[in-house]
Formats: sequence, C-alpha cells, structure tokens
Amino acid sequence: MSRAPQIPLRAGNFSRQAHADLPDGTYEREVGREGFGGQATHFYHRHPPTAWTHWEGAHRPRAFDLNQLGPGQCPLEAPLVASNAHLQLRVWKPVEPMPYLVRNADGDELFFVHAGGGDLYCDYGHITLGEGDYFVLPRGTMWRLEPHGPSFILLLEATGAAYRLPDRGLLGEHALFDPAVLDVPQIDGSFLAQQSVQPTSVRVKARQRLSTITFGFNPLDAVGWKGTLVPIRLNWRDIRPVSSDRYHLPPSAHSTFVTDRFAVCTFCPRPAETDPGALKVPFFHSNDDYDELLFLHAGQFFSRSGMGPGAMTFHPSGFPHGPHPGPYKTSRSNPRTRIEEVAINIDARDPLDLAKGLTGCELAGHVESWLEFTEDIES
Ligand SMILES: [Fe+2]
Repeated sequence: MSRAPQIPLRAGNFSRQAHADLPDGTYEREVGREGFGGQATHFYHRHPPTAWTHWEGAHRPRAFDLNQLGPGQCPLEAPLVASNAHLQLRVWKPVEPMPYLVRNADGDELFFVHAGGGDLYCDYGHITLGEGDYFVLPRGTMWRLEPHGPSFILLLEATGAAYRLPDRGLLGEHALFDPAVLDVPQIDGSFLAQQSVQPTSVRVKARQRLSTITFGFNPLDAVGWKGTLVPIRLNWRDIRPVSSDRYHLPPSAHSTFVTDRFAVCTFCPRPAETDPGALKVPFFHSNDDYDELLFLHAGQFFSRSGMGPGAMTFHPSGFPHGPHPGPYKTSRSNPRTRIEEVAINIDARDPLDLAKGLTGCELAGHVESWLEFTEDIES
C-alpha cells in the first residue's frame, strides 16, 4: 500500500528527522493520532514534557505490582485489572488443576504466561504452556488447565472480537516471526487419555454472566479436527524484533496481535540505536487516541526506573509520558548497546477503566517519578 507524501508544516527550530538530531538543549515530544500510525507533530521543547512538579486529580500515570494479587482457581473469575467495552485484562494465578471446563463466549482469550505454565486441554487437543508463551484461544472454546505449579498468567479477552496477526507490510510475511513457529494443540495420547464418561461441568461466561452446563461425559472428546479457526501458541523467544541503529522505532513496530480496538506489542531484547544523533530511549509522546498498559515480564524496563518483573504501568491519554530521568540521562551520556527487556504493551483505542481492587497493589509515587527532571531546570 502506498500513499501520497504528506509534507509536514513547520515552524521555528526543529529536526527534519523525527527522533534524531534534536536541536541543542531540546526535548522532543511526539503528539500523534491512531497509535503512531496517523498524523503526528513533533515539538522541540525547552524542558522535559514530563517535568511536572505537582499533580492533582485522579487522572494520572499509575503503576502497580501485580505480584501482590492472590491466587485463584477459576480463570473466568480471576481478578480484573483493566477493562473497557472491547477488552478485559485479568491476572490469573492458578495453583491446582481445574476440576471443570470453562468457555469464554464473550470473546477470544489471549494468554500470556508470566510464570509457571501447565498442560492445557481444549476442544482442539492438548498443548503445554510455559513461561513466555502467548496462547490465543478462539471465543467459545472449552478448556481447562493442569498447572505444573503456582502460575502467573495474564488473560486478555478481546470482547466480541477476534485476534489477528498484524499486517507486516513491507517487511513481508515472515518478519517478526514466521507463522510456521506457531503451534496448535494436538490430539495426542495425553488428550485421548483424559477422555471419559465421568460427569463433567462447563462454566460458561457469556455477556459477562456465568452459567454451568453439565455433561455425563467429558465433552473434550474430539478425535480429530481440521480448519482455519484454531488456537495458536507463540513464545516471545520466537519473535525476532526489527530495529534500526539510526531511528527509534515506535511501539507499533513490535505489534504481535491486534484487534479492531487494541494492539498487543512485545518488546523483546534487541540492539539499541548507535547513530550519534539518534534517540536511544523512547521519545516523549502524547499518544492522544490511546490508553496504554505496559507489563514487564523479564529484565528491566530500559526507559523506566525501579520496576521489576510483574509490574504494570498505566498511562492513559491526556498527558505526555516518556523515559524516566535516570535512563534518559544515561542514554545521552553513556548509552547502552542492547536493550534487555521483555515487556507486553497493550494499546487500547478506547479509554480503560482500572479495577477498584487494584489499588491495594499500587506503587505509590509513580506520578512523581519524573521529578528529577525538574532539578535540571534553571530558574
Ligand atoms: Fe507510551
């Protein structure tokens, strides 16, 4: 697909190339539409766009330690983290094998195994999930999990919708990951062995209400299947991220799964930019059409300070965000050559509501975490 070039209108002192060769002493902020895919303008500010000194009101950047959420058995009732009309994000920490099946009739379910894993049985067969696995389960599929031990799994429901792989565009069909790395459940010996005529219950979530259906047999009784509507497993280690040594790519370059109303991106270990003039941390940005959740799976957020695996930040639209002062300054004075992080970014086109129960695990002071920038401002 091509389009006519849109020549930016310009004023004052600016860089001709976004994210590179900033005018001396300035901080770049991108104001953009459609989640880095639409119209955008770059401002070159005298001061860091996140160098606020005081903030009143509930609409603010927030951070949470999801490690503090407790265990639970039923994935359909796992603690809600964030939601809107088009998605529900839950944190599920199973410990014991599920004694019943579940079916989410409200939308496709995307798993991300942050820790642990187990044997998953579903309409399509048996598959093992382990640390770092994504698993997309089509809406309405019956399933249960036998965890191998205490586990920590993100469940992201695409309410009323289906997950798709993003358009690779000019990169081609085998970029980021070859679809051949995707795995599907198998009708294997383990699956056939669990088939029985024991009474089996299925808990169904439909229209966000639960029902229970009981059979006189285990309805996971398929002996085979064929089709294009299938669950898929993808481990982040099979993602081969694109990068540029001269240009900091936007989060959308790391899209892994998309729906019509949100995108899931995976930030994987990758080389950092090396061009002397290129920004080496994310640019400050006002992603004004999107609310953003960022979950750290492994490593250290390369642009943020003091957050370990299991932490999640929430940056709704309405204000800019960007790198923390420490990483920003380090990127200017002693830039790292590699980024060692595995993080899941959820960009939602519609405003997200955080669950009330989340306040118990909030990391206080996130809104003040850019305060160090103010020390550099000369009066
Ligand atoms: Fe962002």
